[in-house]
Amino acid sequence: MAKIIAGVGTSHVPAIGAAVDHGKTQEPYWKPLFDGYEPARVWMRERQPDVVILVYNDHASAFAFDLIPTFALGVAAEYRPHDEGYGPRPVPVVKGDPDLAWHLAESLILDGFDLTLVNEMTVDHGLTVPLSIMCGSPPEWPCRVIPLCVNVIQYPPPTGRRCHDLGKAIRRAVDAYSPDLKVAVFGTGGMSHQLQGERAGFINADFDRMFLNNLTRDPESLARIPHVEYIREAGSEGIELVMWLIMRGALGPDAREIYSHYHVPASNSGAGLIILEE
Ligand code: DHB
Ligand code: FE
Repeated sequence: MAKIIAGVGTSHVPAIGAAVDHGKTQEPYWKPLFDGYEPARVWMRERQPDVVILVYNDHASAFAFDLIPTFALGVAAEYRPHDEGYGPRPVPVVKGDPDLAWHLAESLILDGFDLTLVNEMTVDHGLTVPLSIMCGSPPEWPCRVIPLCVNVIQYPPPTGRRCHDLGKAIRRAVDAYSPDLKVAVFGTGGMSHQLQGERAGFINADFDRMFLNNLTRDPESLARIPHVEYIREAGSEGIELVMWLIMRGALGPDAREIYSHYHVPASNSGAGLIILEE
């Protein structure tokens, strides 16, 4: 049977991807952040998930404001990196898992989560930067990836509660899939940041640390945080953190923290990483 073995929460700051792509990870600005990623990369090599369900948001790349799915599940065989203005990132094409993706689609939709299904899309930094953080720069990504894209760009995004419940439904779906597969769920985005308006540049390390501390043992308290509190405490783009709650919901209540790391600032945000195991 398939089994969710772990969850990973991580930021997806585009400049982190650019630091990898341009060989800058050992420069003084980036070294402390990438030193913190090293144990996570070792963990990833040792645990070797077969498939990652990667919860992320698109930044007006594959979906612009003409089409705004709240939850969009990729069922394709592959996804090419999107050109976000400087050419596509020089990273491998992302290979999907259409069999498991269609199983998730059926299970989740019949379970009450009316997903949009996507046969063809590109993936932007929201998806490729977390892969670079966890896997470095391999010639091929070491696992198949099922993209689960969440709208956190155009108001109204889904609530933290809904995201946490979707994670629980993903767990039920994976548990009911017969092939023997090790599945990991990545929840990405955040942490606190605001890229626009009067408070552009806003970061709240206390909020980020509170979120990291409560994610393992008290996700229910995080699932109650309303949108307005994210915006006030974590900045307008801090709302990306609701995607970490999908990852948390996909793990059982007794999940253990294996590793966490927090570094501020990384570009315009607080950059966190957490690994949970069953
Ligand atoms: C930054 C962070 C993001 O999550 C993003 O999508 C774009 C920019 C930043 O910190 O610069
Ligand atoms: Fe983002």
